[in-house]
Amino acid sequence: MLGPSPLAAASRVENLRQLTRDTHARLDHAVMAQGIFRDRARFAGFLRMQHGFHADIAPLYARADLLAHFPDLAARTRLDLVAADLCALGGDLPPPRRELPASSLPLPAALGWLYVAEGSNLGAAVILKLASSLGLGVHFGASHLAPAAEGVANHWRRFTSALDAVALDAHEEADVVAGARAAFTRVHVHLREAFA
Ligand code: HEM
Repeated sequence: MLGPSPLAAASRVENLRQLTRDTHARLDHAVMAQGIFRDRARFAGFLRMQHGFHADIAPLYARADLLAHFPDLAARTRLDLVAADLCALGGDLPPPRRELPASSLPLPAALGWLYVAEGSNLGAAVILKLASSLGLGVHFGASHLAPAAEGVANHWRRFTSALDAVALDAHEEADVVAGARAAFTRVHVHLREAFA
């Protein structure tokens, strides 16, 4: 059994940010390269990607072991909003897929997946603003990008404080990073499928 990670607890989120910077940048560029703000049909492709990812992770938001660390977790799920956005743009909801066993992912990996999902709220403001050129907004077609009522920064800080506070050993710490990387890889797959 390894002792506590040499990483200070407060640096977990910073560590995740550094170690996923490249894959995030590639994703950002790949999403923009699809011309998602060209018309609503292209934006619907972005929504299909989002729907795939949020459907994967929806079970995480109901897990008791995660709720113990993030008391507001259940209210953070955005799957229903993404689904409503997709329907608003006339898109069909893809059939549910059960490839990712989000309900049985070990806790450290689940933390990595959650980091990616919750972190994506930070970029949402940028996307929401650009989507307004298509007549989309928080009331139509882009509701899942709406800032949290408490403000994006507060919402993120509350999540990251709780994430940093989870006690993990060094093996588990590495599993969090692996989980975050796997989540980004998964979003890349959804992007390719959404625009195939
Ligand atoms: C065109 C697409 C995207 C753009 C323009 C974008 C942009 C941004 C921006 C501006 C930030 C805030 C950086 C900061 O304040 O330091 C951010 C953070 C983040 N985004 Fe994205 N993003 C995009 C897509 C995504 C997607 C699809 C995901 C995952 C599903 C994602 C995951 C994250 C994460 C995890 C962070 C938090 C990084 C951290 O501060 O720890 N992003 N993004």
